[in-house]
Amino acid sequence: MASLSFTTLPSTSSSSKNPLFSKIFSHVKQSQRFQVSCNAAANNNEKTVKNSETPKLILPKTENVDRRNLLLGLGGLYGAANMTSIPSAFGTPIAAPDNISDCVTASSNLQNSKDAVRGLACCPPVLSSDKPKDYVLPINPVIRVRPAAQRASEEYIAKYKAAIQAMKDLPEDHPHSWKQQAKIHCAYCNGGYNQEQSGFPDIQLQIHNTWLFFPFHRWYLYFYERILGKLIKDPTFALPYWNWDNPTGMVLPAMFETDGKRNPIFDPYRNATHLPPTIFEVGYNGSDSGASCIDQISANLSLMYRQMITSAPDTTTFFGGEFVAGDDPLNKEFNVAGSIEAGVHTAAHRWVGDPRMANNEDMGNFYSAGYDPLFYVHHANVDRMWKIWKDLGIKGHNEPTSDDWLNASYVFYDENEELVRVYNKDCVNIKRMGFDYERSEIPWLHSRPVAHAKGANVAAKLTGIVKKVEDVKLPVKLNEIVKVLVKRPVIADRFEMITLP
Ligand code: C2O
Repeated sequence: MASLSFTTLPSTSSSSKNPLFSKIFSHVKQSQRFQVSCNAAANNNEKTVKNSETPKLILPKTENVDRRNLLLGLGGLYGAANMTSIPSAFGTPIAAPDNISDCVTASSNLQNSKDAVRGLACCPPVLSSDKPKDYVLPINPVIRVRPAAQRASEEYIAKYKAAIQAMKDLPEDHPHSWKQQAKIHCAYCNGGYNQEQSGFPDIQLQIHNTWLFFPFHRWYLYFYERILGKLIKDPTFALPYWNWDNPTGMVLPAMFETDGKRNPIFDPYRNATHLPPTIFEVGYNGSDSGASCIDQISANLSLMYRQMITSAPDTTTFFGGEFVAGDDPLNKEFNVAGSIEAGVHTAAHRWVGDPRMANNEDMGNFYSAGYDPLFYVHHANVDRMWKIWKDLGIKGHNEPTSDDWLNASYVFYDENEELVRVYNKDCVNIKRMGFDYERSEIPWLHSRPVAHAKGANVAAKLTGIVKKVEDVKLPVKLNEIVKVLVKRPVIADRFEMITLP
């Protein structure tokens, strides 16, 4: 097992001489130094490499007929007569129910429910019978700046841990408690709610594998962050983000590991073989790629490029399929995840979840993911991808504009324990919401995968000096461009969407 340090770049392995490393890691401070062990088995290079095809995203068919008519026509519970009394049933945005007390024990999507260590009673506490109020964004909010987890200061980490500890210290039935916050995810993902608010009480509400994915999670983190800030009396508190799209952040952030002391952000239900220095796999599909660190980093960057650019040229491919009232999430037709949700998002859930657990708790399953503090830090970076995708300014990179999306709504307890209803349209501008992301380099922007036909000699077609990783000699002179060919591990084409086994 070769070991290499990102800061000192010992010359023990040929991979460590790659100029990419020195470039990317030259700014890592000595205090943040970390070791990366490569599973540098010699036979890695024999692995079949096949990842130049575009991930198969199943796109919604364009239909002249409203899908909801088809559902009715198929003898659903709502006959035509019934429909006239439900004017909202056509073109109605999805809405979480006003009556949160109608929430039911989560049941769906869990194969081993009897071994569900986190429990399936995911409904929120009901504090009053009042309907949720429409949430009004604070005017001129202080901007909370979310730091990259791998660069967070000791002082910040202490504050963040104190906030999570305070959350864990709350009585369990408090809407801000660690458990109640975790249950929100389970309720919205595992059949806790139905679509009664829009006239379909027999159809589940689901926010995954649809265009609700980004906005729902943005709001979820928004309140979670404000609650944490309130608990430690810091109105500027911001969640960290797990910067897995940058090589300096491609390991589980160190602060989440057990440190001998009581660490409130440590979670015992994580894959113990995926702790640092193991490199995260953007294309993780349940088994380790076995790639060397350098190859894995390179593969990760290419996949990021693909999921953010090549496979996400427009609204649907990035956000996921339309999902409106009457659409049944148990029907595969409505399970269309966007490129990031289907890709790196799901990969990280599976990569962190504990394979020894019946349901891959915690991160590996929707019902339990919210119990791991890392969930929110992972989702902060998922959310950052939305912002980056938009800010790239590429034609086609726009949020959905239909009323069905803009007015889709969810219900949360805010930091003042008020039950509020929030709308997608109010979460499009994060500055208005009062948060932003600390800048981090985006190296995948320069990692456009080279598409080539089988057997094509890529090297021959590249101009400039093209080398294999092992042939790169340091130092590389700055007056020449060196292109390095690296092998990439197999990637998963598409994940099963509902569970994250
Ligand atoms: Cu709601 Cu990462 O899943």
